[in-house]
Amino acid sequence: MLSGVALITGAGGCGIGSAISRAFAKSGISKLVLTDLNSKTLEQTITTIQQSSNLSDIEVIGLDGDISDTRFVDTLFAEIKSKYGRLDYAVNCAGISGNNKPTDQSDLNDFDRITNVNYRSLWYCSKKELELMKYQSIQSESKLGFESLRRQRGSIVNVASQLGIVGRPDAPIYCASKHAVIGLTKCDAIDASPFQVRVNAICPGIIHTPMTDNALRPGLKQGEKDLQAPMDLTTAVNIAPMKRMGTPEEVADVVVFLSSEKASFVQGASWVVDGGYTIN
Ligand SMILES: NC(=O)c1ccc[n+]([C@@H]2O[C@H](COP(=O)([O-])OP(=O)(O)OC[C@H]3O[C@@H](n4cnc5c(N)ncnc54)[C@H](O)[C@@H]3O)[C@@H](O)[C@H]2O)c1
Repeated sequence: MLSGVALITGAGGCGIGSAISRAFAKSGISKLVLTDLNSKTLEQTITTIQQSSNLSDIEVIGLDGDISDTRFVDTLFAEIKSKYGRLDYAVNCAGISGNNKPTDQSDLNDFDRITNVNYRSLWYCSKKELELMKYQSIQSESKLGFESLRRQRGSIVNVASQLGIVGRPDAPIYCASKHAVIGLTKCDAIDASPFQVRVNAICPGIIHTPMTDNALRPGLKQGEKDLQAPMDLTTAVNIAPMKRMGTPEEVADVVVFLSSEKASFVQGASWVVDGGYTIN
């Protein structure tokens, strides 16, 4: 479904970014640029891909660094530009959870820390991605054999959240950062449309990752799958009609679709993958 060069941020570990990296690798991409703050878990994602059967011809490079540091992002994009000269897909996934406090009990440090990673850095990555994508050639061949109408110069998927659409108690800074991502997605999609670049967001519900593992029930081991009722998240999980957590792979599959030419008429959308949380 995919071909060319892809960048995925927040690709380390066993969360959503890592699942997206693996799904991209399986979808035909030839060059994968992965980045994460955590060099160890980034290496794990790369090794997993390289050790998978049938994926040995994919070139995977990893650059570890802090995505909220603009000097690191400049280096990352300089590397992409000099090595490949183009970027066909970008998935901006790096993010951190909230401080679980209402506004009056939060301070500026909380605001800056969460906003810098979840929104400011995503905006800066988007700027760099659009600078490259808007002026590059359209890939010469469509892997899907589509007519020119459906061809694209590039695609960006921003990882927002169901909490970019609705609110919840004790999460104003996190929710606002994800609402901002959705606003940015809509505006970038408008400005990028004449260039055949698509910009969409994905809004995961409660997904079983290290981010939500913090709320695991006592007795459960880290990494042990418990899609029913983790401590602190029971109420939230039960708001969704499907009454379970999602898996990173369920999110990754939708990101692959949104990135591909199969989604050629999907523009500026915020696609929920939340077991129905936001319809209830
Ligand atoms: N897990 C959920 O339920 C859920 C729900 C909705 C949205 N999301 C969003 O999905 C994305 C991925 O979350 P996840 O659950 O996989 O979390 P995770 O903690 O497993 O993964 C996040 C990754 O981002 C990296 N990261 C954090 N700060 C960084 C920085 N400053 N620079 C570079 N990398 C950094 C981490 O090292 C980690 O590998 C986040 O944007 C999160 O807000 C998650």
